Amino acid sequence: MKISIIGTGYVGLTTGACLAERGHAVLCVDQDREKIALLRRGKMPIFEPGLESLVKGNVRAGRLSFGTSNKDAVAHGKVIFMCVATPPRPDGSADLSAIEAVARDIAGHLKEFRLVAEKSTVPVATGSRVKDVISKYRPQHVDFEVASNPEFLREGCAIEDTMNPDRIVIGVESKRAETILREVYKPFKAPVLVTDIMSAELIKHASNAFLAMKISFANAVGQICELAGANVVEVTRGVGMDRRIGPGFLNAGIGYGGSCFPKDVAAFEAISRELGYDFSLLREVQRVNEKARDLFVKKVERELWIVKDKTIAALGLSFKANTDDIRESVAIKIIRMLVEKGAKVRAYDPQALAKARASMNTIAYCRSPYEAARGADAALVLTDWEEFRALDFGRLKKVMAHPTILDGRNLLDPGKMRELGFTYRSIGRP
Ligand code: UGA
Repeated sequence: MKISIIGTGYVGLTTGACLAERGHAVLCVDQDREKIALLRRGKMPIFEPGLESLVKGNVRAGRLSFGTSNKDAVAHGKVIFMCVATPPRPDGSADLSAIEAVARDIAGHLKEFRLVAEKSTVPVATGSRVKDVISKYRPQHVDFEVASNPEFLREGCAIEDTMNPDRIVIGVESKRAETILREVYKPFKAPVLVTDIMSAELIKHASNAFLAMKISFANAVGQICELAGANVVEVTRGVGMDRRIGPGFLNAGIGYGGSCFPKDVAAFEAISRELGYDFSLLREVQRVNEKARDLFVKKVERELWIVKDKTIAALGLSFKANTDDIRESVAIKIIRMLVEKGAKVRAYDPQALAKARASMNTIAYCRSPYEAARGADAALVLTDWEEFRALDFGRLKKVMAHPTILDGRNLLDPGKMRELGFTYRSIGRP
């Protein structure tokens, strides 16, 4: 099927490449000309494992192309996926101006039937707004429909998640729209859940909010473990063995970050309030999350006493492993807090150095974890990169001023670290 993607960011690009891989003819457009020029040269604007070869292979096969014109997107795809950003406004609610602008643009170019599917994460009832806008601005006679088809991919394993999703959610108003979207996803082996549009929109917000709640719950339990002297890793393992709870997203640490959870929890809280429900649980999820980073900085202060003029190695800058994305990265937030207190931070990250350098110039960037640790009074593990698990700790210890590790991700083995002669602190573990 001919499919268009408007907005070639993380979601748009991954979705487009995966739909092409499954045999569809996909046109991805974006208003960012530089990004499209880069993609046309076979270069990726983001680091995502496996993406480059997938994109290149499908471009070569003639199933995937890139452009900058929404007009071309409307002309090409029977289905048009809206994958533009829905960033947070100062009050936490989602800024839907890009969605509205794209809807208006689509309307202006409509010549024959099109199914416009929201893939961006949007508050409930956005679909009916999109429908109104397209109805208002389209040429009178042209037929169209709106649908909601949220994505559930995680950065770092976006392709695996898109190719093998737990479920495909299709929110539609008619059998026709359902049939079209079922055909799009026919080559994917996954259960399909068909709902009305608003329920599909809510499934996305509720899923992300629930996962964020699991993480905050684990972080709160981690604090209790720390106060009592128990081990949060064992506690959450035991809790997660209950099939009703499940083991995922129960890792205590410095809290969740990234472009989705912080924004979506805030937007879900905001739309709930707008609808007349005080979803105070979500505010508590946010509070526990923000507290996690404060408690980690306190832990650093407890260890170093005076932070001012101390050299601190930051291992990790991205918001999680296997991505170069630093949006809402808790690692960066913690670094900024320590710099504010006068620390000299030397940072290393396997992928995110360039993006971090462009956004923060108050720290030193290093090409290896050992270079970052040179002369350091403490090393902080801030991102869960596998590389940090497999460090040459003997070498690390030699270059540090004092062998202290504060592990914000519970990545390392406390017993082994102590054996190696490190002062080792982690989250919620004795
Ligand atoms: C998240 C969801 O997991 C996806 O299902 C969703 O599609 C996506 O948002 C989105 O809305 O687009 P993502 O932001 O890529 O995906 O990353 P996650 O793997 O969910 O991690 C989010 C944050 O939680 C990271 O900072 C991670 O380090 C943290 N985290 C995760 C924990 O602190 N503990 C955990 O147990 C798991």
